Amino acid sequence: MKKKLLDKIKDKSAQIGIIGLGYVGLPLAVEYAEGGYKVMGFDIDAEKVRMVNRAKSYIDDISDARLKPIVKSGHLRATVEPKGLAQMDCISICVPTPLSKTKDPDISYILAAVKWVRKYLHKETLIVLESTTYPGTTDEVIKPLLEEGGLKAGVDFYLAFSPERVDPGNTSYMTHNTPRVVGGSTRRCTQIAKVYYEQVIPNIHAVSSTQAAEMVKLLENTFRSVNIGMVNEMAVMCHRLGLDVWEIINAAATKPFGFMPFYPGPGLGGHCIPIDPHYLSWKLKMLNYYARFIELAGDINSHMPEWVVDRIAALLNDHGKAVKGSKIVVLGVAYKKNIKDVRESPALDVIKLLEAQGARVVYNDPYVTTLRWEDGVRKSTKLTDNLLRASDVTIILTDHTGYDYPWIVKNSRLVFDTRNATAFVKGNKKKIHKL
Ligand SMILES: NC(=O)c1ccc[n+]([C@@H]2O[C@H](COP(=O)([O-])OP(=O)(O)OC[C@H]3O[C@@H](n4cnc5c(N)ncnc54)[C@H](O)[C@@H]3O)[C@@H](O)[C@H]2O)c1
Repeated sequence: MKKKLLDKIKDKSAQIGIIGLGYVGLPLAVEYAEGGYKVMGFDIDAEKVRMVNRAKSYIDDISDARLKPIVKSGHLRATVEPKGLAQMDCISICVPTPLSKTKDPDISYILAAVKWVRKYLHKETLIVLESTTYPGTTDEVIKPLLEEGGLKAGVDFYLAFSPERVDPGNTSYMTHNTPRVVGGSTRRCTQIAKVYYEQVIPNIHAVSSTQAAEMVKLLENTFRSVNIGMVNEMAVMCHRLGLDVWEIINAAATKPFGFMPFYPGPGLGGHCIPIDPHYLSWKLKMLNYYARFIELAGDINSHMPEWVVDRIAALLNDHGKAVKGSKIVVLGVAYKKNIKDVRESPALDVIKLLEAQGARVVYNDPYVTTLRWEDGVRKSTKLTDNLLRASDVTIILTDHTGYDYPWIVKNSRLVFDTRNATAFVKGNKKKIHKL
């Protein structure tokens, strides 16, 4: 008799397929492979596939040393060929969900991945979507597509949504110790998806539907976007009042209840916070509802790079200089510290805006040695005391831990610090101007 899916998951004979080997998919693939499962990663990017098969990582949070044993033992392999999906028992879909130019959800990557799955779909398979998307995607878009071949969700195969919560660069919470939310198309789907994730993540929280699970992720990311928007506006207001916003936040954070600190910065970045809330507001527009908090936070956050540039222009002006012709060095272009991800990074907007006003900008980022630019590629400039001394202003856009901030301040003429990275620098305080 053929083994049932639940038994295969429990005795680790289930074959795991991960579609999309990016920031979300690769760490998940590694967890299952380290947990003793045979994992096949499917990606359209041949370079990533080649690198995985050579145990070379391209993700900050996964080291080559972690990939080596699981690739060598054959527990992790990768391919660009979808036909291997026919052998998979459990499939997690971790493909990108960007916005279109008009800021509408672009679920074309999900649809392409689901079409792959549909072609090879067989009975007793679990399919879980992990890509962030609007409520209704799994049951209203994916389920009918998968059922086109005649198999029925909840009966012949199982379908669920489980939002990924990976936080790149976070060394305390990773895939295995971050609780998971799962919601299935049917109760049986939820039960099977729960058991699937329980094998590598001990803390699973089941919700009543795929829509609920989709909405959980959007609440989490809207919560961050709105709070960051609020605190960014606080920064603007504190500046008008002549107050240091970080002093205010740190003092408020001494309250042991009812307050959670969020910090301002040059704008939002990454593949999640600037994008995901718009998936929700788009869906609500369809239902004739205008998501005010989301739109307002999006508006404030997306204008932060302009505000930073206005502040720098005013700072240069105070020192008898114009932006035009000024030499500016930008420290950090990754969207947050200690990682190399530049997706949606506000640093790119700040540089473009400064250059549009005629500034001569170079950047340094130990994590981002090259940067794709409209007119080609830019390279990270070596950070030397001569570079700092020759620049009119040093702008700290990403507070990488490895930077020697006292040395940076000492050698810069002026410092504009958007992250409070210089908080503990003693001396030369007059040179430092904070967001
Ligand atoms: N990056 C994060 O911190 C994070 C956190 C939580 C959730 N998410 C969500 O997870 C999803 C994936 O994000 P990511 O950061 O891993 O993206 P990513 O761009 O790093 O990785 C996606 C991978 O999918 C591949 N891909 C695209 N289309 C494909 C297809 N049709 N078939 C196979 N592979 C395909 C790409 O080549 C890429 O390697 C998104 O919905 C995102 O919102 C991301």
